[in-house]
Amino acid sequence: MMTIAIGNDHAAPQLKKAVMEHLEGNGFEVIDVGCAEGEKCDYPDSARKVCDLIRGGEAMLGILICGTGVGMSLAANKFKGIRAACCSETFSARLTREHNDANVLCMGARVIGEGTALDIVDSFVNTPFSGDERHVRRIGLITAIEQVEMSGE
Ligand code: RB5
Repeated sequence: MMTIAIGNDHAAPQLKKAVMEHLEGNGFEVIDVGCAEGEKCDYPDSARKVCDLIRGGEAMLGILICGTGVGMSLAANKFKGIRAACCSETFSARLTREHNDANVLCMGARVIGEGTALDIVDSFVNTPFSGDERHVRRIGLITAIEQVEMSGE
């Protein structure tokens, strides 16, 4: 069973809940590190918790939801080993798994509706990385940038 870490800020507790129920209904295990309705929380804190779970091996993939998905993706991509993609449609969600081996999906609760979000989630979690040599090489180039730019933290 695949474990997915999920986080949100105060803009997205309802969509987070819908995504969790959808995933659990489809046999995924979900670890929720986000905030509940009525709570205020800052998106970088949820991003850090989800990224830590992935990097620690407790979750295979992560989903982060804020108002636009953009703040979450900016924060998540600061963590070594994290490739976060902000998606508002299913094509990008599928291709970012196939080509980029993205391990975090970010979405905006103020951008897309629940039906679209659940379709995006399905595309993301059900698509494996292609493993093609050219994609492995390009991801290696991203990792090389990461190692140079983030060294000496
Ligand atoms: C919070 O109001 C909002 O800024 C946040 O959810 C997100 O959209 C940031 O990128």
